[in-house]
Amino acid sequence: MTALSFPPGFLWGAATSAYQIEGAANEDGRGPSIWDHFSHQSGTTFQGHTGDVACDHYHRYESDVDLMATLGLQAYRFSISWPRVQPLGQGAWNDKGLGFYDRLVDKLLSRGIQPHVTLYHWDLPQALQERGGWVVRDTAQRFADYADVMGRRLGDRVAAIATHNEPWCAATLGHEVGKFAPGWRDPQATVQVAHHLLLSHGLALQAMRASGVRAPLGIVLNQSSVTPATDSAADRAEAERQLASFVRWYMDPIFLKRYPAIDGLAFHPATRENDFSIIAQPLDFLGINYYTRIWASAAQPPVPAPKLQGETDMGWEIYPEGLTELLTWLHRNYRLPPIYITENGMANADRLVDGAVADAPRIDYLRAHLQALARAMEAGVDVRGYFYWSLLDNYEWDSGYDKRFGLVHVDYDTQVRTPKASAHWYRDFIASQRRT
Ligand code: NOJ
Repeated sequence: MTALSFPPGFLWGAATSAYQIEGAANEDGRGPSIWDHFSHQSGTTFQGHTGDVACDHYHRYESDVDLMATLGLQAYRFSISWPRVQPLGQGAWNDKGLGFYDRLVDKLLSRGIQPHVTLYHWDLPQALQERGGWVVRDTAQRFADYADVMGRRLGDRVAAIATHNEPWCAATLGHEVGKFAPGWRDPQATVQVAHHLLLSHGLALQAMRASGVRAPLGIVLNQSSVTPATDSAADRAEAERQLASFVRWYMDPIFLKRYPAIDGLAFHPATRENDFSIIAQPLDFLGINYYTRIWASAAQPPVPAPKLQGETDMGWEIYPEGLTELLTWLHRNYRLPPIYITENGMANADRLVDGAVADAPRIDYLRAHLQALARAMEAGVDVRGYFYWSLLDNYEWDSGYDKRFGLVHVDYDTQVRTPKASAHWYRDFIASQRRT
């Protein structure tokens, strides 16, 4: 195993998102989002868990930032709750909500931590959902207006602004699979939602550029490498199909101004002539979230992945090589801007024993993925930073508080934070990189 060494200036951070950590769902004028609405319906989430309180970060942000500083984090990726700053998704702005993000950003800067902002991490104002949500084209314009206001407000103090987080999840898990808000099961709506998410990204970038926002602007996509189960023509075709619907459906419009052709695709979005020119705005960076690979099998039932290196508590295969495979594939196929790994991490069945969490599997996961990242960089991929998901154990969407991704353990009864062994490992690793 070679010693891990990254270029000077490479950025080390951790990530969270608003609904997963903030809590304070009904405070200081925050409006409801689709996740408040969805998680309060029975049968949608693990044991009916909601983000009402979550990690209570809204009230604890100062000590949470101090904790980040003790871990030596150089950057922190968080998202803004749209309904906290604009309760109805259009019209009036909420000063108290805006003030919270001002204070959070200032606190981060005071501790020397770069703020990396995401504008949309799945919490659409419920009022916009009631007008149709993302399936309605006008929602894209509403998002651009919101982005513009946030860009003007924070753009001179933050290190980066991403429009969307994982639009594939918002579209497909929210509108086709139905396990995320708003809980639809409608494949035609799904392609339309995906298109409007992409369109809203382009419109937001145009608006923020026109306003002279200084922070680098980009988008965060969830991506995977894809492995055909066998070398058969059917499995290879299945792998191409999975790659097209998961990775290329978002990359091609942004970088190539078109959707990929997918054999037998039954649903197509309605698009307008100029849409691809809007979507394909030049990016200052691309954020990539990588957790596992896709195992593509055309057999019925599909042949399961071998999971030779084990699986996480989510049941996701541990496959660090996929990060190298994915990044080098992207590098060969697109003219990429600088890349950040904006999420990577694992859920582990962590237990607090005598005030400590011995999460050795997470340390192994982290180390192996950093090695895979280093290999991709040796192969020429321009990666500028890495954010572990997540800083804290938090609300894992439909899995509620059952799945723990944090470097820091959260006791949800007391809100006590306890850095796990992985947090100490990451802190020491970051310190070792500062010396090289
Ligand atoms: C991706 C999402 O952005 C984040 O919200 C989620 O918690 C992690 N993956 C883990 O599933």
